[in-house]
Amino acid sequence: MKKSDWQAILEAATQPALKYLESLPERSVYSPVDPEEIRAVVGGPLPEGPTTPHDVIADLARDLEPFVAAHASGRYFGFVIGGLHPAAYGAELLASTWDQNAGLYAVTPGVAVVEHVAQEWLLDLLDLPREASVGFVTGGQMANFTCLAAARDSVLRKVGWDVEADGLQGAPRINVVVKSEKHSTVARALRYLGLGYSNAIEVPSDDQSRMDSSALATTLSRLDGPTILCVEAGNVNTGSFDDFVDIADVVQEHRAESMPIWVHCDGAVGLWVRAAGARRGLGVGLERLDSWSTDAHKLLNVAYDSGIAICRDASAHRASMGVQASYLIHSESESARDPMDWNPEFSRRARGLGVYATLRALGRSGVGELVDRACDLAVRFADSLRSSGKAEVVNDVVFNQVLVRWLHRNGDHDGFNDRVIQRTQEDGTAFFSGTTWNGMRLMRLSVSDWATDEDDIERSLEALLRAASAG
Ligand SMILES: Cc1ncc(COP(=O)(O)O)c(C=O)c1O
Repeated sequence: MKKSDWQAILEAATQPALKYLESLPERSVYSPVDPEEIRAVVGGPLPEGPTTPHDVIADLARDLEPFVAAHASGRYFGFVIGGLHPAAYGAELLASTWDQNAGLYAVTPGVAVVEHVAQEWLLDLLDLPREASVGFVTGGQMANFTCLAAARDSVLRKVGWDVEADGLQGAPRINVVVKSEKHSTVARALRYLGLGYSNAIEVPSDDQSRMDSSALATTLSRLDGPTILCVEAGNVNTGSFDDFVDIADVVQEHRAESMPIWVHCDGAVGLWVRAAGARRGLGVGLERLDSWSTDAHKLLNVAYDSGIAICRDASAHRASMGVQASYLIHSESESARDPMDWNPEFSRRARGLGVYATLRALGRSGVGELVDRACDLAVRFADSLRSSGKAEVVNDVVFNQVLVRWLHRNGDHDGFNDRVIQRTQEDGTAFFSGTTWNGMRLMRLSVSDWATDEDDIERSLEALLRAASAG
């Protein structure tokens, strides 16, 4: 086997990596940039000949780093982007070093067992049915896709149709019920699954974007046949939670032999509430549903990318995702889990390692504290914004999401919000993103990072007030 100068590569990558990680508390979070500026340093024609790996990595670290957005900064509040827990980072380094193809136990027994252990820990932590199955996927999008594929298999199988073998052509029609404020990835998963999004029946949401449970009851009372219902834990705008107890009661009333119902919860943001302290009540009733998706790269602070798909009915999960081939070595033992059976990928990264390492580093109490702290800081940020007199908070801050409306003296609040967001991004102290909600342009802020502290909130608030003072 040829040898390589691994030492040189490690130094070229890890020295700037360490400098970068140590700069996070002070570095600028983001600078708006013209793509041509980036091309000027990384572009050009395909090289005709080789460059040493050391030089490539040293150049990349030097040239691209100025254009990297500091997602792991304690002052990055945009979208719902989680931080980087040190244990997750270490696990990613090992995953890259070991370069495992984590599809089958026989190919990578160590990683397969670590993912199996992570599955058991997750079900314990989130207090979900211990017999449920787990797929470690790339994110909330693919977790929604995976769970809804299992749902499609299950509801059709119960009315005598094998969708895996026969597809959807000629299949009994599936009723898909969603709420008006569903996340766009739910609609996208429905597209991927051949169910379409314009056929979905929308149940209205209330003023906090929660599904209206009595409207759901009316909707279900008019339906018959296989049905998939999608609910949500942690709305991307308001952070709100649907009322899972009410929803589970309504579903129980309408489930019938001719109307099998699978209830899926998109918990990309909020499933972690099941590990929280004070706010745990928001997640009561979730254990009565059929599948749950979440993101480890959001509140758990695992490195990108890391999502989790959980299904109560492991056989439907496996039927929709599993694959066999004569040249593969499939496990025949329950204790030797083949990851390939639980996620859409065939070859895949050792994605569950980061989840395992982060859960092991934090423990049950640490995950709870991480979630509670993020939510407490979101409340604190909201209080400070309100008391500045320059902005109002338009959602009930029940979790880690805050919706802010900057108030302009001339009444042009929408334009003012966009200007405050843009000026703050240009300033670089902190990053916030915007949204349109209930017809208003708003600033969103999401506290999703273990590293965020009170000082980050103060500095970010000052940056926002500076941006707002320019009118
Ligand atoms: C409620 C919800 N569902 C799904 C997703 C998609 O997750 P991902 O970006 O990890 O695919 C998001 C992303 O923010 C979300 O907020």
